[in-house]
Amino acid sequence: MIEIEVKNLYKIYNENRQNEFTALKNINLQIKSGEIVVIKGKSGSGKSTLLSILGGISKPTKGDVIIENENIAKLPDIYISNFRNEKIGFIFQSFNLINGLTTYDNVKAPLVLKKLKKQEFETKIKKALQIANIQHKSDQNVENLSGGEKQRCAIARALVMNPSIILADEPTANLDKHNSLIFIDMLKKLKKLNKTVIVATHDSLFEHLEFVNRYININDAEIIT
Ligand SMILES: Nc1ncnc2c1ncn2[C@@H]1O[C@H](COP(=O)(O)OP(=O)(O)OP(=O)(O)O)[C@@H](O)[C@H]1O
Ligand SMILES: [Mg+2]
Repeated sequence: MIEIEVKNLYKIYNENRQNEFTALKNINLQIKSGEIVVIKGKSGSGKSTLLSILGGISKPTKGDVIIENENIAKLPDIYISNFRNEKIGFIFQSFNLINGLTTYDNVKAPLVLKKLKKQEFETKIKKALQIANIQHKSDQNVENLSGGEKQRCAIARALVMNPSIILADEPTANLDKHNSLIFIDMLKKLKKLNKTVIVATHDSLFEHLEFVNRYININDAEIIT
């Protein structure tokens, strides 16, 4: 099943102004359900721009982004945030955790609008903490977590809604080698759970991984392979 389809996608910043800049040019892409895809490309090539459009965080200038039969490029913002919350887990390079809250409460954050019983909240949160291997730091304020632990908390938060798609932007940029390899191992786990995962990275640790279904190279706003 095709889970994500991108057709003739363009992102032009500052269109029709002197500083107009084409960050994505005629991107076409089909990603099947359960695939692990790595997007590579040098700094400024357009990786984060593409990921943020796939995640409904920013809108394309032109083109279509069809996720599970819904063209999110055409959806009104109010629906997009709901769609994203239900279907997509986004792992940011800088983690974007809420300081002052514990790991548990950070992971709970995407669930707050759900009408769930206390027990149901707990089950979902514990499961996500467990997959991300951070359950032992549940009650710790996230400010006091190490870089690798913050990353695992961000992963748990991305998983708690049980999304079918996980997008990760430079997920190892703030990690040492040991924790980067733990992250890569986690990708294997996500594949077993049949998640569709797209990672944007220029970390060489992601090269030649046998469980990665596809490597996509972006250069100067275009897919080159
Ligand atoms: N809001 C914006 N306004 C204007 N230009 C932008 C904006 N956001 C990004 N760009 C430009 O678009 C290009 C692509 O940026 P993007 O962040 O997608 O690159 P990247 O491949 O993720 O790079 P990196 O590896 O450094 O994270 C860059 O040249 C950047 O300066
Ligand atoms: Mg980037």
